[in-house]
Amino acid sequence: LNASLVLNPHYVIAPVRRRLFGSFVEHMGRCVYTGIYEPGHPTADEDGFRGDVLGLTRELGVELVRYPGGNFVSGYRWEDGVGPVAERPVRRELAWHSLETNEVGIDEFVRWAHKAGVEVMYAVNLGTRGVAEALDVHEYMNHEGGTHLSELRRANGSKAPHGVQMWCLGNEMDGPWQLGHKTAHEYGRLAAETARALRQAEPGLELVACGSSNSAMPTFGEWESTVLELTYEQVDHISLHAYYEVLDGDVDSFLASAVDMDHFIDSVVATADAVGARLKSDKRITLSFDEWNVWYMKRFHATPRTEWEVAPRVIEDQYDVNDAVVVGNLLMSLLRHSDRVAVACQAQLVNVIAPIRSEPGGPAWRQTIFHPFALTSRLARGQVLRVETSSPTYWTKRFGDVPVVDAVATHDAETGGTVVFMVNRHQSEPVELRADLAAFGEVMVAEAWTVHDEDGAATNTEADPDRVVPRPHKTGITDGDLHVVLPPRSWTAVRLT
Ligand code: AHR
Repeated sequence: LNASLVLNPHYVIAPVRRRLFGSFVEHMGRCVYTGIYEPGHPTADEDGFRGDVLGLTRELGVELVRYPGGNFVSGYRWEDGVGPVAERPVRRELAWHSLETNEVGIDEFVRWAHKAGVEVMYAVNLGTRGVAEALDVHEYMNHEGGTHLSELRRANGSKAPHGVQMWCLGNEMDGPWQLGHKTAHEYGRLAAETARALRQAEPGLELVACGSSNSAMPTFGEWESTVLELTYEQVDHISLHAYYEVLDGDVDSFLASAVDMDHFIDSVVATADAVGARLKSDKRITLSFDEWNVWYMKRFHATPRTEWEVAPRVIEDQYDVNDAVVVGNLLMSLLRHSDRVAVACQAQLVNVIAPIRSEPGGPAWRQTIFHPFALTSRLARGQVLRVETSSPTYWTKRFGDVPVVDAVATHDAETGGTVVFMVNRHQSEPVELRADLAAFGEVMVAEAWTVHDEDGAATNTEADPDRVVPRPHKTGITDGDLHVVLPPRSWTAVRLT
């Protein structure tokens, strides 16, 4: 197969938003306990944080982490997780049917985030709680001092305010599985009043209203419309969540998951703008894609939990090469929408549907999906460029005809560096690709990486943690054209200088 691209530094979409390289730490399964935190682990530091996981988090290039949930947050009492650890209560955790020891709470997580060099995005509980508790947790976290809760934080050892800027107003409140599930009207009113109160406390906060839990929800569209009508002037962002998996063995459609993500984003933008037009508002709502990933959800639902355990193993998906290609392509979709997607969080960071895996007392390693994320975060700089793509198509059950090749680029005017990200979604055919770079003048290939394996089902395991890694890729430049062969089911990044 043959495909071609045309790149031009003037085809600018928007700046690369570094908050697109977000992740998510939920008190779920082993994400926190034996994930980021494991006192007694050989690499644990003085705070009990695993040094190996911290190192991999930095290497992954994560910029922001959403915390503490997820479904967990809708039953969470933040006060349980502050103060002397020995006095913290153990609680039933209903979202994931486990026991929460509260050994890690706000102050510990913020300390971890500083060590990891990431911004914290905090979600408040609007399931079992409301405006008063949201104000309380804000006072504890962000108020300088001189009030009951800010002084409590200081007494607990965090002298400086945590200064959290991004706040999620609940989580997936449209989902019947959510504690305190609400109708769009009930939620929209509560979110508006919570937002108004938080802004009275600190006007500059960035607030995220819950959109639908996924685009297949029966109320998708209507939910966004009602919620935004009630919150439009009070919030900055509306959330999107999407998880992809191979359904009924249909790998062709799975490899084209980014087509769905593109469409989902465009639909929410259109809905938000329609509300803005109806309200005669000049304001533009941006998107917080604060949960996205590959998740083999069908397998998870097959095994409901009955025991009450601390940090049980839940949804520890093991990712293969095809999953890595899809994750790389989903990041391309997010980048090309960086005019409207302001934040994105891959869900989650460690063990629970995660790029990083760790074993209690044992090693931590990079799953296949770690690699496209780390490379994209490292390489994407400057402005996102629209790429004119001419590609053959293939037929899929879910999306009809889709392009075999998808591409996006970034260009950093300061360094002159340009990076092209490409994916070949075809299961068996390589693609000979030519990219017209004439608009950039003389350029050279500085580095080129491909994530691919003859065996699309290859995975990284504790025994063989580097079975799938990015490999340097052969490219050539002749007469201003980049030539590269994209192997079947592959993700490739080429940096030009
Ligand atoms: O990330 C796992 C779960 O997926 C989150 O808790 C929830 O928000 C979503 O349904």
